[in-house]
Amino acid sequence: MTEKRKIIIDTDPGQDDAAAIFLAFGSPDEIDLLGITTVAGNVPLSYTSRNALILCELCNRPSVKVFAGADRPLKRPLVTAEHVHGKTGLDGPVLEEPKLELQKQHAVDFIIETLRNEPAGTVTLCTLGPLTNIATALTRAPDIAPRVRELVMMGGGFFEGGNITPAAEFNIYVDPEAAKIVFGAGIPMVMMPLDVTHQLLTRKDRVARMRAIGSPPAIAMVEMLEFFERFDVEKYGSDGGPLHDPTVIAYLLKPSLFSGRLCNVEIETGSELTAGMTVVDWWHVTDRKRNVQVMRHVDADGFFDLLIERFARI
Ligand code: RIB
Ligand code: CA
Repeated sequence: MTEKRKIIIDTDPGQDDAAAIFLAFGSPDEIDLLGITTVAGNVPLSYTSRNALILCELCNRPSVKVFAGADRPLKRPLVTAEHVHGKTGLDGPVLEEPKLELQKQHAVDFIIETLRNEPAGTVTLCTLGPLTNIATALTRAPDIAPRVRELVMMGGGFFEGGNITPAAEFNIYVDPEAAKIVFGAGIPMVMMPLDVTHQLLTRKDRVARMRAIGSPPAIAMVEMLEFFERFDVEKYGSDGGPLHDPTVIAYLLKPSLFSGRLCNVEIETGSELTAGMTVVDWWHVTDRKRNVQVMRHVDADGFFDLLIERFARI
């Protein structure tokens, strides 16, 4: 059996973040989840932290440690997305307040300490929200950058454009300065942009297969997705909405589901009009460093087969 992948999930749950976390919970043979770090994004930090604890309780994973992180971007005011995720960020199912408690240690300190204590090149960072925690850790402890095995992130867009502005995807838009630091840190990166996630629609037949699992986590997930997708169904007129964040964990489990190419990616931070845009040199028209493996295609049926098969194991 191949070595388990040690990961930290940095997240702003968020119904689609929940699907990513469930996918990790359902894959204990492949994934060693060292901790969950929360960041302000879809909803304020108090909710994203609460939500991460709820997800651990819902899936009976009380030993998973949750660390609260940044409550705002590095330089800009926080922009949230209650219009998509609801007030709590996990609207849809009726969820009880968590009994589990947050760790006392700050998320950024946990990230730094873990990367310094684990053998170099063994820890993967999986980011599902704005990159504020990761950028803060890299700024405070530049020595950790070469110790990261890989950073797999959901964020950005290129031919698909943006979702929060015409040019920018939400995770990058919330904290472009943080993204600029992370994309420039020299860490091996894999990017799951809207170009991929917009191929992964929570179609009725797929949600019905999730509901048929029948477990409390599966039913809660269905209720989350049915709430979460309504905004995108309205916006795109599609059968279901795009499922963004689980692509990060699916890549670790079955990378062959995805294809793309190593490109230069820069982050726009100066322009008002295009702040947070991921400028992807897909056609290699510049000689800028090719710093990111940018994914563009995904086997959508294979992705949902994996997701549903692993949800059933939780
Ligand atoms: O643009 C989609 C991303 O923004 C997802 O991570 C979603 O959870 C929100 O954080
Ligand atoms: Ca997210």
